Amino acid sequence: MTQRVAILISGGGSNMVALVDSMTGDHPARPCLVLSNDPNAGGLEKAAARGVPVAVVDHRPFAGDRAGFEATLQRELEKVGAEIVCLAGFMRILTPAFVANWQGRMLNIHPSLLPKYPGLDTHARALTAGDPEAGCTVHEVTAELDAGPILGQARVPVLPGDTPDMLAARVLTQEHILYPAVLRRFAAGDRRPVFLP
Ligand code: GAR
Repeated sequence: MTQRVAILISGGGSNMVALVDSMTGDHPARPCLVLSNDPNAGGLEKAAARGVPVAVVDHRPFAGDRAGFEATLQRELEKVGAEIVCLAGFMRILTPAFVANWQGRMLNIHPSLLPKYPGLDTHARALTAGDPEAGCTVHEVTAELDAGPILGQARVPVLPGDTPDMLAARVLTQEHILYPAVLRRFAAGDRRPVFLP
């Protein structure tokens, strides 16, 4: 049985594209929805061009009503029968109640070697700390931000003269390899972590 995967984005959606493009052939999952909280997210067009249904739940009309925003998200996910949710550059914090609905079925990619640097500005923080390497992590989403069980990590070197943008670009190329590799394994029911390279 193929698993139905919904991908939540807020921006350009390059990780979403990597995930969608990976779900072909004998892959145990297929994309059923790409949803953005930002109507202007560039990823929406890329998903539509790939024939994936898209939806927008704009968070702005829900200011001060997180429960209402998440109830609408939940309805969209249920409408398409999503079984796995992949957060891919989805920049809204989700409440423990919403996360509980998807316990063990929701993944996130984060641009650091967790448990280092949860939250924002990960690349600048790695450079300020003088870290010799950086990377990305795919993890199960739990109530605590960026702290769920690790399902995969990929590492890159920090090079002399790196700026946060240069490091981000190097990490992003690895995100595009790691996230599909983890999803393939996860959708097949195998939660052993993937470590790259
Ligand atoms: C990616 O680098 C992802 O790891 C990061 O946002 C970027 C989205 O790029 N996610 C977070 O920072 C989550 N806290 P994309 O839209 O091109 O996939």
